[in-house]
Amino acid sequence: MAKVALITGGMGGIGTQICKALADAGFTVVTTYSKPGKEIEWLASAKETGYTFHAYQCDVADYDACVALAASITAEIGPVDVLVNNAGITRDATFRKLDKVNWDAVIKTNLDSIFNVTKQFVDGMSERGWGRVINISSINGQKGQIGQTNYSAAKAGMHGFTMALAQEVARKGVTVNTISPGYIATEMVMAVPEDIRNKIIAGIPVSRLGKPEEIAALVAYLSSDLAGFMTGANLAINGGQHMC
Ligand code: CAA
Repeated sequence: MAKVALITGGMGGIGTQICKALADAGFTVVTTYSKPGKEIEWLASAKETGYTFHAYQCDVADYDACVALAASITAEIGPVDVLVNNAGITRDATFRKLDKVNWDAVIKTNLDSIFNVTKQFVDGMSERGWGRVINISSINGQKGQIGQTNYSAAKAGMHGFTMALAQEVARKGVTVNTISPGYIATEMVMAVPEDIRNKIIAGIPVSRLGKPEEIAALVAYLSSDLAGFMTGANLAINGGQHMC
């Protein structure tokens, strides 16, 4: 039976390509989405290109919703073997303009969510002796970014979670890793004002934005058996914009 992969926020720019890459690798692919209605067109368009995905509405910032999500997926699809914590939002503002609502929104959606979702699945992975948790962080969790105290804090926090959990579950055959993408050609990056975006691109040594497929290929590798020796890592994939 095919292993099951759950990708949170799988209908976004990077998420969609992760869903396709994991389906290509033989996984049964399940995704969450936050806004009801979004799934209809997305599932239909995936189907047109030969992909059958399963989609569940869930606000990953809401712990109880994640408990219910896990119960539904486990009953209807099966136990989750690969979890990609990919859901995330931006609410960019310089710190002097950042209000509590936008601080809380980003911390809850980008950081609390990895507790809420991972909590539902990691014990099962450990009991079965195989699992993969992949946290999609950001270059801006590694280097900081003007206008992103909220986002950078949440994204840096994700990797702390990765390193701690990786040590707890390593001997159970479960790996936990962080991927830190740089600026990728998605709606999120296109929402950055054009003049600022162009300055950012000028600072990327490969002179272009990344492609969602390039992130998805790394997720597929981390999900494979061959990646069993890699755990607690923070993999930078940013066109050389930040080297650490
Ligand atoms: N470098 C230097 N100074 C900057 C600056 C920059 N990049 N951006 C703003 N400033 C300075 C301005 O020069 C100005 O200085 P003065 O007050 O001395 O004149 C001040 O900050 C302006 O502050 P404001 O609060 O008025 O800024 P604003 O409202 O015009 O916009 C911003 C600020 C929202 C941060 C805007 O610059 C912006 O959108 N920046 C891009 C942030 C970014 O990279 N976000 C990434 C989104 S994609 C993503 O997150 C995916 C991923 O993982 C990579």
